[in-house]
Amino acid sequence: MEGSYILLFLLLTSASFQDDVYRNANRNQDPISKTHYLLNSIHDVVHSTRGANVTLPCIMRQRPRSYKVKWSKVNPEDPLENLIVISNGRHHKNYDKLRGRVRLRRNHRLDASLIITNVTLEDEGRYKCELVNGLEDQSLTLSLQLEGVVFPYQSKEGRYRFNYIEAHQACEEQDGRLATYSQLYQAWTDGLDWCNAGWLLDGSVHYPVIVTREPCGGNLPPGIRSYGPKDKLKDRFDAFCFTSALKGHVYYVHGPMTFGEASAVCKARKAEIAKVGHLYAAWKFYGLDHCDGGWLSDGSVRFPIIDPRERCGGLPDPGVRSFGFPNEQTRLYGVYCYAAT
Ligand SMILES: *[C@@H]1O[C@H](CO)[C@@H](O)[C@H](O)[C@H]1NC(C)=O
Ligand SMILES: *[C@@H]1O[C@H](CO)[C@@H](O)[C@H](O)[C@H]1NC(C)=O
Repeated sequence: MEGSYILLFLLLTSASFQDDVYRNANRNQDPISKTHYLLNSIHDVVHSTRGANVTLPCIMRQRPRSYKVKWSKVNPEDPLENLIVISNGRHHKNYDKLRGRVRLRRNHRLDASLIITNVTLEDEGRYKCELVNGLEDQSLTLSLQLEGVVFPYQSKEGRYRFNYIEAHQACEEQDGRLATYSQLYQAWTDGLDWCNAGWLLDGSVHYPVIVTREPCGGNLPPGIRSYGPKDKLKDRFDAFCFTSALKGHVYYVHGPMTFGEASAVCKARKAEIAKVGHLYAAWKFYGLDHCDGGWLSDGSVRFPIIDPRERCGGLPDPGVRSFGFPNEQTRLYGVYCYAAT
């Protein structure tokens, strides 16, 4: 069965490969050699983190006599062009959510690169640099990827309570955003193994499995299990949230205290009670390792572990451990505060 799939795949790819070779051969016979105004970029992906300034490179080989540079954001699910900047060499217009945070770099006369300042989670995606000169428009596309961490998120009410809209909102409330498939994939290669299905940004539902086991897809090999697209209003699952670097820091204050007291303790220190995303970012980016459960803003109690050890939950891998959502009057835990700096 599997063998025949592979064979079919090979047949399909070799057919399209031949097709490409054929078309390229035709192109080479084209008597008018085409001027390539844009340099192909070496890297297709540009990495950054939230809050940073990032440059998306776009360099001309030579300047056409007259031209405009047009940058847009490309969203495969949205056929409308998302124009960001258009320039005619003298002045440019800004559009979109990036308004006020983008400019053309213009370090030299062949530079059409775009600078985005104070990168946000929503800036992730594909960008197109287009050289419009009236004859042959040329373009290149680049992906902006943020370094970050994916965290599974479950409602206080229990497992599988979020429709898509609620999942989207829950991630934002925890200083994150619904993860994309490629963010979840990256998290899986980093070691995320989670047996509850969660919404992703594109409305699909997945979960990542490293150690195969009966309730998590049975004998299927390790990988990302898919539920395919679901009804965004009617179907209910957990969420996979993504967050990136943190401006500020997270620290633990000893208890014991109730949930209500926990918020007040942080406020008295001119900080706020940390969100789940804050704790994951501090764990991932600053190596926060602390063996005591602390309240977080959603009423859950968690603690971050870098060096797994017997008395700290005993699990073999690093991670943020959870005590779930204890009764708010419980007086057993401290608190994690977040101070923006
Ligand atoms: C980003 O650029 C702005 C101005 O262009 C600058 O004020 C700011 O300090 C830069 N931020 C970082 C993190 O480098
Ligand atoms: C960067 O963006 C965040 C969130 O959008 C905002 O709170 C912050 O003030 C911005 N920082 C600067 C330097 O513009």
